[in-house]
Amino acid sequence: MSADALLFVNAAQVVTCAGPARARRGSEMADAQLGTGVAVLVKGDSIVDVGPLHTLERSAEGATRIDCEGGVLTPGFNDSHTHAIFGRARYEEQELRATGVPYMEIARRGGGIHSSVRDLRTRSEDELFALAEPRLRALAAFGVTTVEVKSGYGLSLEDELKTLRVIRRLAETLPMRIVPTWLGAHEIPLDYRERTDGRRAYLDLLINEMLPVIARERLAKFADVFCEPGVFTVDESREILSAARAAGLGIKMHADELTSGGAAELAAELRATSADHLAAVSDAGIAALAASETVATLLPGTMLFLGKTAHAPARRLIESGVPVALATDFNPGTSPTTNFPLILTLGVSQLRLSVAEVLVAATVNGAAALGIADSVGQLAPGFSADLALWDVSDVRELPYWYGAGRCRASWACGKPCHVHDLALTFRS
Ligand code: NIG
Ligand code: FE
Repeated sequence: MSADALLFVNAAQVVTCAGPARARRGSEMADAQLGTGVAVLVKGDSIVDVGPLHTLERSAEGATRIDCEGGVLTPGFNDSHTHAIFGRARYEEQELRATGVPYMEIARRGGGIHSSVRDLRTRSEDELFALAEPRLRALAAFGVTTVEVKSGYGLSLEDELKTLRVIRRLAETLPMRIVPTWLGAHEIPLDYRERTDGRRAYLDLLINEMLPVIARERLAKFADVFCEPGVFTVDESREILSAARAAGLGIKMHADELTSGGAAELAAELRATSADHLAAVSDAGIAALAASETVATLLPGTMLFLGKTAHAPARRLIESGVPVALATDFNPGTSPTTNFPLILTLGVSQLRLSVAEVLVAATVNGAAALGIADSVGQLAPGFSADLALWDVSDVRELPYWYGAGRCRASWACGKPCHVHDLALTFRS
C-alpha cells in the first residue's frame, strides 16, 4: 500500500450515507447508515474500503493511521449554494429590516444586490480573490469539502467574467472541490432598469454576450436565475435557462424564495438540477418537483437572517418524495454565515427534519444538487475521499451544539482540506 493511503481508526461513529449513488427521496433520507467499530481506508483520492478494522488491516499495510480518538467521521459536507465572491459586508441592511423595511424594498431603493454590484465593480480580481479565499477556508473549517460558488454581483460582461475567473483561481488554489455557477441573472442592473427597453436589453446581454464566452471558456458548470416577482419573471427565466442549457450548462434556480410565482414548476419543466429556497413554494410546485428529478435545496439560514418565521415546507417536500438538500446560501445580504453545522441545527429545529435526514441532505443530496452524486457524498468504496472528523462522540451532537462547529479536520479527494487538530497530521 502506497504512502498516500490513510486508515481512519477509533471513530466512535462513522456516518457513511452509503447507498444508491443518486439523490435520496422520501424514507431513503431517513437512514444515514450509522456504523460503530468501523474503520475507513483511503487510497489516493478514493475510498477503498469501509468496515471492521480487522477486515481492513491486511489491505491497509503501510497506510498512515489517523486516530479519530473517539470522534465522529462523516462524509465532507457539500455546500451546494453560496455567493462567496463579494466585496464589503452589508450590515446596515440588517437593522433596516428590523425597523420594518422589507428585503425587496431595500432592493427597490438601490440597496441589496445593487449595493454589492456597485462595490464589486470597483474591485480587481486579486482583491476579490484575497477576500474570498479566507471565506472558503472558513467554510472548510466547518466540514465543507465541496462548495458551489456563484457569480452574480457583476451583472456586466466584464464583471461577471472577472468573478468567474476568481472562482476558477480559487478552485486551482484551495484543497476543496469548487463548482462554479453563472448567476448573471441575479438582478436587472440599475442602469438597465432605468431604460424603457432595459429588461429586453439585459436579457440580450445575458444570452448573446455573456453566455457564449462563459460556455466557450468553460467558466461555469451551471446557470442560475433569481426567478421571483420583481426580479426575473418565469418567462424570462425560461428564456435565459433554455439558452444556457443549449450552450451546455446545467440549470439551478433561485425559486419561490419570498413569493410563490411558479418558479418551482419551471425548475421541474426545465429538468433543473436543483430548485433552491422554496420558502414560498405552492402545492402545485411541490407536486411538479415530486414528479421530476430536481433536488430541492433548502436554505433555512436565509429565512433566519431575514427574520422570517415561514420556512420552506421541508416535511411536505420529503413526504411528497422530493429529494431535499441543505446549504448555507452564504452571501452578504441574506445569509452571512459559513457555519454549515448551524444549518443542520436549523434543519432539525425549524424544518423538523431528523438528524439522519439533515445528514443525507448535507452529503448525498448536496452532491446530487451539483450533479456529482455518482462519486461524491458517501463513505463507500469508489467514492471520492471527502471526510470530516468531528469533535463529538455522537452524531446527534452536530445539530445540538448549535453555532459550535467542532470540525477537527477534513479531507477532500484524500488530501487535507482543513486541519484544526495538528496532531492529526503527524500521527501515524
Ligand atoms: O439567495 N435571492 C437572491 N440572492 C441571494 C441574496 C443576495 C443578496 O441579497 O445579496 C439569496 O438570498
Ligand atoms: Fe442564493
